[in-house]
Amino acid sequence: MANLSRRAVLAGLAASLLPRATAAQPSSLGAIADARGVWFGSAIGEEIFADPAYAAAIARECRMVTIENAVKLGFIRPEPDRFTPEMADRLVLWAGEKHLAIRGHTLVWNDNNPDWLKRMSGREVARLMDAHIAETAGRYAGLIQSWDVVNEPFYPGFGLPGGYRDGPFFAAMGKDYIARAFHAARAADPIAKLTLNEAFTEEDTDLGRRVRAGLLGLVDDLLDAGVPLQGIGLQGHLKPHLPYDDQAFGKFLAALAERKLPILITELDVSDEGFSGDQAAVDRAVAARYRQFLTTCMAEPAVKGVITWQLSDRYSWYRGDWYKNAQRRDHIHRLRPARPLPLDDRLRPKAAWAAIAAAFEGRGL
Ligand code: G3I
Repeated sequence: MANLSRRAVLAGLAASLLPRATAAQPSSLGAIADARGVWFGSAIGEEIFADPAYAAAIARECRMVTIENAVKLGFIRPEPDRFTPEMADRLVLWAGEKHLAIRGHTLVWNDNNPDWLKRMSGREVARLMDAHIAETAGRYAGLIQSWDVVNEPFYPGFGLPGGYRDGPFFAAMGKDYIARAFHAARAADPIAKLTLNEAFTEEDTDLGRRVRAGLLGLVDDLLDAGVPLQGIGLQGHLKPHLPYDDQAFGKFLAALAERKLPILITELDVSDEGFSGDQAAVDRAVAARYRQFLTTCMAEPAVKGVITWQLSDRYSWYRGDWYKNAQRRDHIHRLRPARPLPLDDRLRPKAAWAAIAAAFEGRGL
């Protein structure tokens, strides 16, 4: 960690865990959430170094940040024998200096892996996973508030028993890769909270219901086996054009909360592609969805944090190559740039900002 001043980051981390200064602060989503005992934050990436105004908006609005891509396996290990933590180091240092709690995302994901991993034998993948977790989680030990140790364990579409997501790690170790990854992460970083992160549970679709059931069963199995699981991440990529049921999701949150683990909404955004009308009408519809969903989340005391997947439409993943490829695959043709987040392209608060603030303010009333 030559170029990462551990002392600076630890100072920032320590400060981020202390109560905020009581002096009146301009209202921000982070301050409003903080006043109700909830973390608010955003995903961040290299854009904050090229866009000082955006970096300032993140520092103002957030109390926690998730590293969107820089510590993912394909980014930090472009080749089996090449480790490239430079961007991750810069992001961890920046966040520490801003007194922001830091989420690591993600150590193990059966999707979005580099080709060199897919060419490995099962035995090599298992060894690589252990070594990758030891090196990556070990590098930032003590600096990360929580790790998404395993991302998206389920995807019933693969047709595997239990609805697990297929990929190099499952192929190599079956579902045991999950417990193994958590034990490896605990050995590498005794301080970080270890989280299991999942998608789709917000949808009241067959997929969403199957993932919810699978996740509850997996959490019980991991806890019964003494696996160091300390939190659950529900991504929250809301798609209003798909079925959603407040009561059903609230019951799922309550069932999850019975496991006595903190719940984070880890990747919140609201796709606007199903809404029509002028920009103001679309923004209002997006805001209404934020308010509806977060009101349900805030009614569950186990929900301790809400992280949006970037803060400004300008940097939404819905505008990136990854999603554009998915659009082409699914024959989705957007008519306008995505507007899924609390700040617009010019970093101005949108109706969604006020909706999120109102949901936080309604907590515990
Ligand atoms: O930065 C490079 C650029 O230099 C290069 O020219 C370009 C070539 O395509 O790639 C750029 O990197 C892309 C990166 O996003 C930044 O835009 C990667 O190819 C692309 O794979 C990456 O996509 C990310 C995706 O996960 C896959 O890792 C998205 O930004 C990120 O928002 C998305 O986030 C996921 C969560 O990790 C898990 N939950 C779902 C969520 C949305 O899909």
